[in-house]
Amino acid sequence: QLLLLPPILLLFMALMVSALDNYTRADFPADFVFGAGTSAYQVEGAAFEDGRAPNIWDTFVRANKDNYNGATGDIACDEYHKYKEDVQHMVDTGLEAYRFSISWSRLIPSGSGPVNPKGLEYYNNLIDELIMHGIQPHVTLYHMDTPQALEDEYEGWLSRNMVKDFTAYADVCFKEFGDRVLHWTTINEANSLAIGGYDNALSPPGRCSLPFGLVCPKGNSSTEPYIAAHNLLLAHSSVVKLYNKKYKATQHGFVGLNIYAPWFLPYTNTTEDLIATQRAIEFYIGWFLHPLVFGDYPDIIKKNAGTRIPVLTPHESKLVKGSFDFIGLNHYATFYIKDDTSSLKMEIRDINADMGGSIMYEPGDSSQDQDNGSSGLYEVLEYLKKVYANPPTYIHENGQRTVRDGTLNDTERVKYMHAYIGTLLDALKNGVSNTKGYFFWSFLDGFEVLGGYEYAFGLLYVDLNDKQLTRYPKLSAHWYSNFLQGRSIRT
Ligand code: NOJ
Repeated sequence: QLLLLPPILLLFMALMVSALDNYTRADFPADFVFGAGTSAYQVEGAAFEDGRAPNIWDTFVRANKDNYNGATGDIACDEYHKYKEDVQHMVDTGLEAYRFSISWSRLIPSGSGPVNPKGLEYYNNLIDELIMHGIQPHVTLYHMDTPQALEDEYEGWLSRNMVKDFTAYADVCFKEFGDRVLHWTTINEANSLAIGGYDNALSPPGRCSLPFGLVCPKGNSSTEPYIAAHNLLLAHSSVVKLYNKKYKATQHGFVGLNIYAPWFLPYTNTTEDLIATQRAIEFYIGWFLHPLVFGDYPDIIKKNAGTRIPVLTPHESKLVKGSFDFIGLNHYATFYIKDDTSSLKMEIRDINADMGGSIMYEPGDSSQDQDNGSSGLYEVLEYLKKVYANPPTYIHENGQRTVRDGTLNDTERVKYMHAYIGTLLDALKNGVSNTKGYFFWSFLDGFEVLGGYEYAFGLLYVDLNDKQLTRYPKLSAHWYSNFLQGRSIRT
């Protein structure tokens, strides 16, 4: 076990690695912010404590035990009890900001109605602790965790009722925390929520629209992803409207939406693959950005989804258009896209089929040995500048998955961060991006959406075999720390 590598050795290794750097924190604007992120279900634990009620993530992991080896986020990293220790680790790492999410069913257990005083107390304490240590709180209101009561009552995001209840929940958050929180994200990865939650059942609430032999316990309608997405857009813009009307003048904060934003490259240079690649970009990036910037869905989505996609009425379009102060981007990798000419594409009714059967290849896929490294981030930002008028952005998530085996010497993760942060700097210097901050995913090894505790993304390893859930900074934490404290050396 490398777990026992003395911290001094890791520090030395981090200094060695940073000796390779050709940039420092000081190359970024002073008001640019560097942090790391987590989400409530993935790190908080205390899932049934102090009045927190179940949400769809609790239900989902129990219904899909096999995918998680029976593990749950009931305890996770226990940040609920260990937030002070975690904030101290953030201080030690030199984080300037912490991106976390509020658990709706901890704050308002039934989804609508009375506020749970213990929930209020917890988030007040966490926010105060961060601020006391000079760390900016960047708060996400929704990270895949609809209160179960609302899922049971009206099927969550499939219902328009969510717009009203989500807005009322946001109102509580702005009222209670908005005196100290300036950066609000309404919904995390709105596009992957529509796909993972309603198309391929990989994330809560685990509904699907894949009738090709896959068992689809819930859902089974290829209209659902589009309906959920529509309601997500309406709920988001309703919250922005509320903030602007009721809080902006006194709190002076910013509200944005977050999307999963990989980059896509054609598998070959054939016209078919080039067109398929553009379709993928429209389906992933355009699905939410097009309405937010132009007030309507991209033409290709409307054409391919036909009557299954709700129409944005003139009133809705007006509400949605321009309803953001920033766009949060979760960027991990570049995928290669190949047009699918097989007859299968006509039969499968899922987002992939709607994209025209574009097939995605993971970077490093052995069938085609291309790995585009970090330049995809540059291209996403350049695309946003060209097509969507260069909106202010935050890189809300960027990180590398490894197997959770206790290794602290995560040199690959360090290389990954070094490359992506360097690419971001190039984009800023070349004026192709209006990015205001970068958050590494994740601060801790938490409970992963795919695979639970099998995988790790954290700067800090959390030892699940130890009752104290001790945190151990990895090499990546030391590297980030050196970088943030401006100790990177130019050679
Ligand atoms: C996206 C999600 O926002 C987050 O919850 C997840 O852990 C990471 N990506 C990594 O899979």
